[in-house]
Amino acid sequence: MGQKFQFPKGFLWGAATSAHQVEGGNHNDWTEWEKSPKRIAELKTRGLNPDDYISGKACDHYNRFREDFDIAKSLGHNAHRFSIEWSRIEPEEGKFDEKEIEHYRQVLLALKERGLEPVVTLYHYTLPLWFVRKGGWLNSHAPMMFLNYVSKLADEYGSIVKIWVTQNEPETVARESYLIGWRPPHKTSFLSARRCLHILLEAHKLAYDVIKKVDLDSQIGIAETLVYFDLYKNTLLNKLTLKLIKWWRNNPLFSEFIKYSDFVGLEYYYHTRVRFNPFTSKWGIQFNENKKISDMGWELFPQGLLPILVEMKKFDKPVYILEHGLADAKDQNRSWYIKESLKFIAQAMQKGVDVRGYFHWSLLDNFEWQGGFGRRFGLVEINYKTFEREIRPSALEYKKIITLNSIEI
Ligand code: BGC
Repeated sequence: MGQKFQFPKGFLWGAATSAHQVEGGNHNDWTEWEKSPKRIAELKTRGLNPDDYISGKACDHYNRFREDFDIAKSLGHNAHRFSIEWSRIEPEEGKFDEKEIEHYRQVLLALKERGLEPVVTLYHYTLPLWFVRKGGWLNSHAPMMFLNYVSKLADEYGSIVKIWVTQNEPETVARESYLIGWRPPHKTSFLSARRCLHILLEAHKLAYDVIKKVDLDSQIGIAETLVYFDLYKNTLLNKLTLKLIKWWRNNPLFSEFIKYSDFVGLEYYYHTRVRFNPFTSKWGIQFNENKKISDMGWELFPQGLLPILVEMKKFDKPVYILEHGLADAKDQNRSWYIKESLKFIAQAMQKGVDVRGYFHWSLLDNFEWQGGFGRRFGLVEINYKTFEREIRPSALEYKKIITLNSIEI
């Protein structure tokens, strides 16, 4: 028998989602791209069915959020992270849609009624079309446009929401949308990516200040995914490669974001063992053992959480694990992965890291961006034809840990 680790009273246990991935019926820059003739032709060339890659009704969570929160409650969760869709709130610049504002008020109240603490993300990858047409995150006025939207939400929901996440993964936005161009608006320029990251930082700061003005006690931060990097072999070239990759991939501006935050919002999905070898696939850098992998092909490496969390001590701020999970349609590894990861989180806490909550990604199977509907990250399985929900066994294993509020480490 190992040692028992007791999580502190008030520890937040839950799962996370994002608007575009679960709601259905959105109209934003992603929906435009999903349906564009170019994207559809590209999917067909790869022998894929475009319908599997168009978010469409997603999980119909927009209409079924109460049912979904009932499930979360039945699974013992006491908190829930979700995002508000900017394109619904402000479909035209400066014009707010009162019906949608009321919708999200109902979402927040539904969480509160079930004893689930809301953690609200304000920007999780998708953008209103008018904003994108004006240059998106490259426009120097973008922070002010974001501020306008955030002030409205702070005024409307400031008395209900205590934990705000201004942006989900600014580095991913800069890299995937502006550097390698896999995601809208498909730019491929290092300078644009850098500019985007700086503008996002500016927007975060403005959002932070305006929310604080409404409620000084609110906790505000960002969510960033950090990679656990180590070396394949201790050679000079590998070490230099590691330094460069780590600098960019773990967000060169990360500490600036954290300086202007009340907490460190962490996501953890990846381990990368770096070896410089430009003549192989995976950009010549990734040489993992891959003893266990998810349906995304990502190595399951729970032990990476410990060094990452311990490194966060330097910020001397509370930490929330805002996302952590795996695509696992057969639910083969999810229980193991959750348990193992929580053990490493517990060990980090024993070493003095002030972790305040854990949000599994995700509550529901959902629309996995470029990966479409085939990647199943949910504690709850979705039947996309009937929209029936079915709780996966791993969700019940997670519930056991939540109920005990402790784990054997
Ligand atoms: C994103 C989620 C995404 C998950 C799995 C995270 O980085 O925030 O939206 O579904 O990764 O790819």
